[in-house]
Amino acid sequence: MTDKSTSSLDAISAAGLSGGGSPLRDTIMSMKPHDIYEVARIGLGMDDVIPLWFGESDFNTPEFIKDACKQALDDNKTFYSYARGVPEIRASIIKYIKRIQGVEINDARITMPGSTMLSIVLALECLITDGDNIVCVSPIWPNISQATKMLGGEPRHIRLEPRDSGWYLDLDRMFDACDARTKAIFINSPGNPTGWIATKEEQLSILEFGRKNNIAIISDEVYNRLVYDGVAAPSFLNITEPDDLVFIVNGFSKAYAMTGWRLGYMIAPEFMMNQLLMLAGVNNTGAPVFTQYGAVAALDHGEDFIKTMVDHCRNGRDIMMKATADSNRIKMIKPAGAFYAFIEIDGMTNSLEFAKHLMATAKVGLAPGSAFGEGNESFVRICFAQEPATLETALERLTAAL
Ligand SMILES: Cc1ncc(COP(=O)(O)O)c(C=O)c1O
Repeated sequence: MTDKSTSSLDAISAAGLSGGGSPLRDTIMSMKPHDIYEVARIGLGMDDVIPLWFGESDFNTPEFIKDACKQALDDNKTFYSYARGVPEIRASIIKYIKRIQGVEINDARITMPGSTMLSIVLALECLITDGDNIVCVSPIWPNISQATKMLGGEPRHIRLEPRDSGWYLDLDRMFDACDARTKAIFINSPGNPTGWIATKEEQLSILEFGRKNNIAIISDEVYNRLVYDGVAAPSFLNITEPDDLVFIVNGFSKAYAMTGWRLGYMIAPEFMMNQLLMLAGVNNTGAPVFTQYGAVAALDHGEDFIKTMVDHCRNGRDIMMKATADSNRIKMIKPAGAFYAFIEIDGMTNSLEFAKHLMATAKVGLAPGSAFGEGNESFVRICFAQEPATLETALERLTAAL
């Protein structure tokens, strides 16, 4: 006797109702984890590895932040809540931005869907469809290009130029790369991996260009407190009107040593809030609730910790600058912000193979330049927010390997 369900499946497949091919999207099937993971994959779980591949310091999250989160758990802040973030975190964000940037932000412009990365994805989801492009300053953190491609878009990289005075952005080249399918300009300042910082004048030119040409701006300011001069890097918050099509993202990972918490927020035009709320709903239904109370403590009481973090990074930067000045094979442009040394190694032409080899033989994990877009094959990135002894050992191993 024929099994009825099997025969109807056979009929569907005979009729070709599934389209005959795989239901999996070509776009996704043609992508792979980026090159930093290729290196981390070898090193994770190995003994005696110095892991400098990811963008995080060796500091633990401060106790006062963990305590606030533990208290929230004890208070049973464990239910579904506001997808835009609990009222307390939105109030703290408003106070913090007023204190640090001197700008009054309306609560209706704030959303906290989860991590900074998730905020970026939501902004891109509002903008990109098949065939669109975004123009980005590169070298650039690989996730931005991947998120664009995932949506069927094309990331166009405008590479910063290395100059004696630091990394330089040619705005004309950037504007020339925009066309009718350009939906956004993506700026990450201070930048990963270069530490480049956009000036207020550059930000104003980009804002003006975006306004004139109906191009959105995504400003990734997750490193904006990790600067070696002043309190914070110039922010689009200081120059945008509330209804400019500008998505400003920030988060807790870097300045507060909270990478594992997956917490970030976005300031966007109020007229986008319903859409962002809907997208937050389908992506994550907001950031985990009890963690948001840790973030409140970070914003309200985190200034001393940020100072300690910046001093720690400054030490790391000095160690890197000295080591590269003493080397005849390594060059490094002094980063103005963030916590990375993006070093160029003379004679090295395949950064991924080099980083894998270094990992396997010297047990030092670096991020290969290839992950950050074209033109970076002779570079590797080192996260220098580490104890001096750790960095010095890593540099000894690197020098020996070279
Ligand atoms: C430029 C940039 N943007 C965003 C993020 C993501 O931050 P989060 O950990 O809060 O998602 C990172 C993390 O490395 C980053 O380097």
